[in-house]
Amino acid sequence: MTDVASQGSAPGDDRPVLTNRQGHKVYDNQNQRTVGARGPATLENYQFLEKISHFDRERIPERVVHARGATAYGYFESYGAWGQEPVSRYTRAKLFQERGKRTDVAVRFSTVIGGRDSSEAARDPRGFAVKFYTEEGNWDLVGNNLAVFFIRDAIKFPDVIHALKPDPVSHEQKPARIFDFMSQTPESMHMLVNLFSPRGIPADYRHMQGFGVNTYKWVNGEGKTVLVKYHWMPKQGVRSMTEEDAAAVQAGELGHATHDLYEAIRRGDHPEWELLVQMMDDHDHPELDFDPLDDTKTWPEQDFPPRPVGRMVLDRTVENYFAENEQISFGTGVLVDGLDFSDDKMLVGRTFSYSDTQRYRVGPNYLQLPVNRAKNATVHTNQRDGMMAYEQDPHAGNPEVNYEPSVMGGLRESRYPTTDDEGPVIQGRVTRKRIPRTNDYLQAGQRYRLLEEWERDDLVKNFVALISQAERAVQERMVWHFLLVENELGLRVGEGLGIGPGDVLGLEPLAGQDLTEEDRERLAHLG
Ligand code: HEM
Repeated sequence: MTDVASQGSAPGDDRPVLTNRQGHKVYDNQNQRTVGARGPATLENYQFLEKISHFDRERIPERVVHARGATAYGYFESYGAWGQEPVSRYTRAKLFQERGKRTDVAVRFSTVIGGRDSSEAARDPRGFAVKFYTEEGNWDLVGNNLAVFFIRDAIKFPDVIHALKPDPVSHEQKPARIFDFMSQTPESMHMLVNLFSPRGIPADYRHMQGFGVNTYKWVNGEGKTVLVKYHWMPKQGVRSMTEEDAAAVQAGELGHATHDLYEAIRRGDHPEWELLVQMMDDHDHPELDFDPLDDTKTWPEQDFPPRPVGRMVLDRTVENYFAENEQISFGTGVLVDGLDFSDDKMLVGRTFSYSDTQRYRVGPNYLQLPVNRAKNATVHTNQRDGMMAYEQDPHAGNPEVNYEPSVMGGLRESRYPTTDDEGPVIQGRVTRKRIPRTNDYLQAGQRYRLLEEWERDDLVKNFVALISQAERAVQERMVWHFLLVENELGLRVGEGLGIGPGDVLGLEPLAGQDLTEEDRERLAHLG
């Protein structure tokens, strides 16, 4: 619909007329109202006040982590089975049941540490967050591109992020602070070997894997549960950058990965990932040398083969960066029937943190926004009002009844899908203890040995360049850890730093650190 200004428009000019939010036409958008041509300005000018004061509020707090990102849309298509085995044997989640069933998705890829306009070529984990708009409500799978994480207990998250972010004095990111923290955090070794290898700088968002990282559960129709880990594998292949490649990209552009994603989608080259799931019986697996709820560990693929469950295609870009990328809100608590949490101590903490920050960052009614609402499910709640309340639920019953229970035509509870779920029975004393079987070095060493020669060279070079900026005590402790990870890594980084095994011989394990028999033997060997 067009409207033509009564003043100032040339005859035949049918462009729409500028108004303010109250619907008042704007006759002059160039000059404030003033007393005489040279001022002073008047303060009753609603049009000017509305324009400026809205501008003053254009920014919301950026995400405390993952501030820079790009969102795209598409669909997830289920395979329904692996060979002859139907997925329903393990989960009753509707989106997985039928072969070919499609579910709308929104995906946000991101970097973690930098601000909203920072470089997308930084060495940093990448976020890989998927919102499935299922007919049973939304499911968010909030993952990263590296299969493990720095820490295994949510209480340490603010510390690891403070160490990685710029310092609170001069706002500079400092390797000395990063490795100070990591040197006291042996469970970070597996993540560090990944992050400082070329995998730590993905070439772009289309050429990277995704991982749920934390352990979740699947629940089947009888209420039986299994532990699961999720993997996304790109059909485009995996590509990474060295420090030099990244510097060259960054010199020309800070947002190359967003550009690459949107350009590919616009030219019809729709990126695709396959979703695979690893499974374990739902118990603590004393036979394993790690705890299945430890997110610093991967599950060996020969024992727990990843099974393909579907594919995801991204075929649409956003139309509005702020509405769809800034305000989109993911959380690990957002699950549908047939999917569940595990007792993974990171996952439980994350699940509180996401919706907590979104109520602050976006507002208490963030779930009413188009990008966040459960658009393919029916929503009827008794939640009411609050700041920026927009949507009055289309109430199925008596609109006066916004409470439950009621016999006056209010909403009712749904029937529970099964009698009860069958997880393990948990018993224990309330305590503060690290999990048994921390085994912080074994998988980090295995990962190192899997790297190709040039990747090892790159890893060692990166470690030496950054750890050399840390205090001597931190350097020595890092060499000590690396010798426990893999002799060659410890010797090579040590050589670069001028620290030999003899220099770190006298170091005691960290307070409360659990070492395996194999770790102790390695230490004895140093002597
Ligand atoms: C974003 C907390 C661990 C993946 C965020 C945000 C917070 C947060 C507060 C900002 C959310 C927002 O403003 O909307 C935590 C805590 C963790 C944790 C407390 C540990 C206890 C992890 C791990 C992963 C991860 C292990 C990967 C598996 C992500 C992703 C985003 C994110 C992908 C960005 C989501 C988006 O694109 O909007 N996290 N996080 N986080 N986190 Fe975590």
